[in-house]
Amino acid sequence: MHPITAKLKSRMKLPVIGSPLFIISNPDLVIAQCRAGVIGSFPSLNARPLPQLEEWLQRLSTELGPEDAPYAVNLIVHKSTDRLMQDLELVVKYKVPVIITSLGAREDVNEAVHSYGGVVLHDVINDRFARKAIEKGADGLIPVAAGAGGHAGVLSPFAMVQEIREWFDGPVALSGSIATGAAVLAAEAMGADFGYIGSAFIATTEARADERYKQAIVEGRASDIVYSDLFTGVSGNYLRPSIVAAGLDPDNLPKGDYSTMNFGSGGNTDAKAWRDIWGSGQGIGAVKAVVPAGEMVARLKREYDAARARLQEDAKVLAA
Ligand SMILES: Cc1cc2nc3c(=O)[nH]c(=O)nc-3n(C[C@H](O)[C@H](O)[C@H](O)COP(=O)(O)O)c2cc1C
Repeated sequence: MHPITAKLKSRMKLPVIGSPLFIISNPDLVIAQCRAGVIGSFPSLNARPLPQLEEWLQRLSTELGPEDAPYAVNLIVHKSTDRLMQDLELVVKYKVPVIITSLGAREDVNEAVHSYGGVVLHDVINDRFARKAIEKGADGLIPVAAGAGGHAGVLSPFAMVQEIREWFDGPVALSGSIATGAAVLAAEAMGADFGYIGSAFIATTEARADERYKQAIVEGRASDIVYSDLFTGVSGNYLRPSIVAAGLDPDNLPKGDYSTMNFGSGGNTDAKAWRDIWGSGQGIGAVKAVVPAGEMVARLKREYDAARARLQEDAKVLAA
């Protein structure tokens, strides 16, 4: 096992990263995730205005200890994020253990995180971007496969992990429709080190999401997810009922425009992406109730252990 992967896993009870969720992730959710033994994370932009980010980081560094899993902050490296350098300064000041970068790979950001011993994981939708991210100094990769919530890719998780593992032995967190402990084990079997789970954590009591949104996650299944670039200019997965509620036809959505992309401020329709148009991946069929995040992690752990035991049992049937 790569030493960075081993260092992270040694502080975790289950190889899961609770992924950053725009608007939704907050310190309550992150603390619950880390205490339950998985990495919790939030996008720095969820703390607004800027001074709130320092309050959140102060709280996390006080309330989380060495017995908890490390926490992560997501920096959105895109030209529409004018706070990037200020957020980075705070991340360095509080020595945030793991940084998740998305939408852009930048050497100066990676160097700043390495200056205090932090780990950078970069999310990518194909092998070309993966190579670029590692060239620019990221420590690990998050292949965002088809079916992931938010800005998802279109490639199969099998194909992505297989191609990345041909040349990269560092930490890999697989993202896309993972919502059960068995799927986390499957990600590891494929060659990834962690399952990267977003949508399932929306249906937790700690998540900062409208109750109707949480219920839609509980009730939704894979066929309720619509892939469109209309809302932010970048293709992503959204819950069909929220598109209908915004007065749009989910089966006939116009094309979006990348040039007008402004992360988090509404994209190209009147309905604000993320607030009115609810992001979700295809894995939500596994989510049956809104529960505290600690309970969700306990379910994932039970399923993970059961899947491992079942596979060990099944393997005995194969001819030696
Ligand atoms: C509502 C929502 C908001 C998201 N916001 C962000 C974000 O701010 N930054 C980011 O890097 N990824 C974001 N993502 C993507 C997730 O971090 C992750 O890649 C994805 O949720 C994993 O797939 P899953 O939802 O099927 O588990 C978001 C996903 C959702 C569903």
